[in-house]
Amino acid sequence: MSHTLLLMGPLLPSIMASLESTYTVHRYWASDDQTQLLSNLASDCVGVVTDGGRGVEAAVLEKLPKVKVISVFGVGVDAVDLDYCRNQGISVSNTPDVLSDDVADLAMALALAVSRQLVLGDTYARAGRWPKEGAMPLTRRVMGKRAGIFGMGSIGRVLATRLEGFGMDISYCNRSAKADCTYRFVPSLVEMAKSVDYLFITAAATTGTIGAVNSDVLDALGESGYLINVSRGTLVDESTLVAYLEDGKIAGAGLDVFASEPTIPEALFALENVVLQPHNASGTWETREAMGKLVLDNLSAHFSGQSLLTPVA
Ligand code: 8YV
Repeated sequence: MSHTLLLMGPLLPSIMASLESTYTVHRYWASDDQTQLLSNLASDCVGVVTDGGRGVEAAVLEKLPKVKVISVFGVGVDAVDLDYCRNQGISVSNTPDVLSDDVADLAMALALAVSRQLVLGDTYARAGRWPKEGAMPLTRRVMGKRAGIFGMGSIGRVLATRLEGFGMDISYCNRSAKADCTYRFVPSLVEMAKSVDYLFITAAATTGTIGAVNSDVLDALGESGYLINVSRGTLVDESTLVAYLEDGKIAGAGLDVFASEPTIPEALFALENVVLQPHNASGTWETREAMGKLVLDNLSAHFSGQSLLTPVA
C-alpha cells in the first residue's frame, strides 16, 4: 500500500503526476470539505507536501497525528509551524540551492529594470511616444555602484557573483560574518544601508529579520538608494516603504514579494519608480522542475528510512 500524503496546494503538473504515481495524494485546496478531509485522513496521512508561500499551519497538523514528514517546495519555511514540528518530531525538508541562480538573476534584473526604467521605456516605445516626444528621460547607471546584501546565504552568495560582474562594491549584513566570504561585513543593517546605492534583501524570514527593513533603514538608504526584495515581503515595513516611494524618500524599488500575497498594495501600481513581479523569482521551468525533484527525493529518502537530503534545521 502506498503512503498517504496531503498536498496543500497545486505544484507543477509533472511533479504532481510523479507524486500521485507513487503515493496516495489528497488535494487539500481542492476539497469541498477540508474539515471532513482532515478527519478522514487522521489515521492514514503520514506526510504533507506544500509550497513555501502556502506552508502548513499547526491547526492542520494537529488533525493529522501520524504525519512525520513535511516536504516543502521552496527554500523559505516561514509558513510552516516549525516549533510545532520540532515538538512533534516531524521532519521538514525544503529546496535550497537549486533555486539560487534564478532568484539571484531576478534580483539583478529588478535592479537593472528599476534603475534603467525598462518598464517605462517599453511603454514609451509601444505607445509611440519616441517619434512624437523624442528620447525618453535619462535613467540611472548600475555598473560600478555600491551594493549591500541583507542575508549572505546561498542566494546572497550567488547574487554577489552577479554584482561582481557589474563592477559593484559589495557589502553584506548577516547574523555573523562568514569566514569564507571576502565581501565587507557590516553587522548593522542601518549602517550598511547608509553606505550603499542598492539594498538587496535575500535573508530568510525569521523572528530576527521580520520587519527589519523599517523607516530607519529606508532613511539610511536615502533618496538615491534602491531597495530590491526577492525574499519575503514581511521583512519590510510595507506601508512605510509605499509612503517612502510615493514621497521620493528612496529612489525606487524592485519587488518580487509582498507582505500579504497575492495582494499588492494598490498605491504601488501608479508609481514609476517601482518594478513589480508576482513572486516569481524561482519561476523558471528549469528551477521549478529541480525543486520538484528535490521534494520527491526528500520523500523517498524519508520513506526508505534514510536521512532527508535537505533537512530544515
Ligand atoms: C516559490 C519561494 O515561489 O523558495 C521559496 O521560498 O518563495 C519560491 O521559490 C514558492 O515556494 C513556490 O510556490
